[in-house]
Amino acid sequence: MPLANYFRKMNEIKPPTFRLSTSLCETCYLFQLDYQPKPSDMFNETYPFFTGLSQNMREHFGFMVDTILSINPINHESFVVELGCNDGTALSFVRNRGVPHLGIDPSENVLRLAENNGININLGFFTTELAHEIVKMHGRASHVFAANVICHIPDLKDLAKGIEYLLQESGIFVFEEPYLVDMLAQVSYDQIYDEHVFIFSLASVKEVFSKYGLFLFDAEHQETHGGSMRYFLSKNRERPMSSRLQALMDAENEVGIKDRGGYIDFIDKCLSNRNDLVDLLTKLKKQGKSVAGYAATSKSTTILNFCKIGPDLIQRIYDSTPEKAGCVTPGSNIPIHSQDELRLNPPDYLVLFAWNHKTEIMTKEKKALPQDQKWILFVPKVEILNES
Ligand code: TMP
Repeated sequence: MPLANYFRKMNEIKPPTFRLSTSLCETCYLFQLDYQPKPSDMFNETYPFFTGLSQNMREHFGFMVDTILSINPINHESFVVELGCNDGTALSFVRNRGVPHLGIDPSENVLRLAENNGININLGFFTTELAHEIVKMHGRASHVFAANVICHIPDLKDLAKGIEYLLQESGIFVFEEPYLVDMLAQVSYDQIYDEHVFIFSLASVKEVFSKYGLFLFDAEHQETHGGSMRYFLSKNRERPMSSRLQALMDAENEVGIKDRGGYIDFIDKCLSNRNDLVDLLTKLKKQGKSVAGYAATSKSTTILNFCKIGPDLIQRIYDSTPEKAGCVTPGSNIPIHSQDELRLNPPDYLVLFAWNHKTEIMTKEKKALPQDQKWILFVPKVEILNES
C-alpha cells in the first residue's frame, strides 16, 4: 500500500509503499497494524487534512469541548492541552472562553493556521520528553484531549507516560477515535491505513492505559466517522466507572471482539464488498457511463489499491481541499479535480469516498447537483442511491 495521504502531481516521485497487515493482541485486545511507516513521512509540512473544512465537524468539536469542560469545570488552575490540534478548530472553543491552552501538532502547514487563529501552539510530536518541557514552561494540565489522533501514534507507552506526567492529579484525558465494533459491523475496512496504527475498543483502552496510571471511567458513543467512541480517563484509580461505560462494555463483550471468529467473518465480508464494488464499476464502464469519485480521502487509498481501481473505472475524483486539486490518488493515479468543476459537469455516477460525511455532503450537494444525481455507496454495502 502507498501512504494514504501521499497526494502528489502525476510525475513527481512515486509514493513510498509499505506492507499493510493487521493483528489483534490476544492479551490486551488491541487491534493494530503490524508495521507502520515512519511518522515523519506521514505528518509533516505537506499534511493535506484540515479539520475546519467540515461544518459538521466544527459543530461536533464545539460540543466536545463543552462536554470536556463540564466534567472538570474551569477554574484558576485550568490549562487545556490538545494533542494533534490540526488547524485549531477544537481549541478555538477553548480560546473563546479565555482559558489557557496549548495545541501540539507535528504538521507545520496546518499548525500555522491555528496560530493565525490566535491559538497557542507547539510544533512537534507529543512525547514524554515534550510533556516534561511543557510542564516546565506552563505547569500541569487540567484537561488533555485529542480527536482522531491517538490512533496515529505508534509508541502508545511513551504517549501514555507523557500524558500521565502532564496531567494534574485531578486532571482528565479525553480522546475519541473510530470504534472497532463499528468498523467490524459496517465492513468499513477503509479505516485501515498507515495513519491508523490502532483501532481502539473499550477493552483495549482500559487494558493498555491502566498500565500507565490512566483509568477509564466513562465513554460515549459518537456518530462521527461512521461510529466513534469517546473515552474519558482519569489519573484517579478510585474514580467510579459510570453506568454508561458499564453498559457499553457489556454490549462490546456481547459482539465478541475478543474472538477470532468475528475477524475471519470480517475478512470474508471485505472480500465480497470488494467484488461487489469492482463488478458494479466494470458493468458501468461497459455501459459507457461516466463515473467519478467524491472526496479524495485517506480512506479511499485503501479502497482504490485493495480493489485495484484506477482511472479506467473511476475517471476522476472531486475534492474540496485546494492542495489536492491537480494531484493524483496515491498508487491508483486517479486525477483529482476541484469540487467547483464537479458542479459544472457532473458524471452519471459519483462514488462517495467521504461516506463518513454523508449527511453533510448530501444536504450540501442537493442544491448544487442534478436532482437525480446517482451516488454509489460501499459502506456498509455496495449500493446505488437514486437509481430508478
Ligand atoms: P479524510 O477522510 O482523509 O479525513 O479526508 C476528507 C477529505 O474529504 C478531504 O480531502 C476533504 C474532502 N471533503 C470534500 O471534498 N467535500 C466535503 O464536503 C467534505 C466534508 C470533505
